[in-house]
Amino acid sequence: MVATLERLRKECQDFFRRIYVGEDRVMVFGEGARDASWMLVGEAPGEKEALAGRPFVGKAGVQLDGFLQTLMLDRDTLYITNAVKFRPTRVSAAGRTVNRAPTQEEIELWQPWLKREIELVKPRLIVTLGNTALRAVTGEALSIGDTHGRMLDGRNPPVFALYHPAAVIYRRDLRDTYHQDLATLRFVLDELGVSAEQR
Ligand code: URA
Repeated sequence: MVATLERLRKECQDFFRRIYVGEDRVMVFGEGARDASWMLVGEAPGEKEALAGRPFVGKAGVQLDGFLQTLMLDRDTLYITNAVKFRPTRVSAAGRTVNRAPTQEEIELWQPWLKREIELVKPRLIVTLGNTALRAVTGEALSIGDTHGRMLDGRNPPVFALYHPAAVIYRRDLRDTYHQDLATLRFVLDELGVSAEQR
């Protein structure tokens, strides 16, 4: 029985090596406060994350940090992970290795590990970033367009859906919506009694 995040990470790493035998892939596990009161779930690591072996350290991470700072929410006091624990790639027409969205099969492969991370951290709130995280956490074919900026009904722990920060890089029209959603998130954290120190 795995009792700590460190042991879960090791178990996940063993699973990873068995699945991708001989492949040049890096596992990126979650990180952050083990008793975090809230948890962020993203889609999958990108190139920078695979190089660093850490979630959200590339462009999307910079964007995320900026939004969190605006709201005085502290990344150090939360737990941050991804639905899929490796960088999904494809070769572009120009012959470059680029990111791709994870397949449904890949999301389902990593779903039990995400569930176990959630069980160990026991957050008072899960914040999903984008469609993949939303679907991986809920196990339902929900759409971020319909659910962003609010708590989903009847979830334990409660789930709050946000657009993926990368979406805001590519879609400037989402900026105002994203800021409004973050302001609602701050209100939700206050309602849940997550104190300023825990944030
Ligand atoms: N996008 C994600 O969803 N996760 C990361 O770790 C980086 C970019």
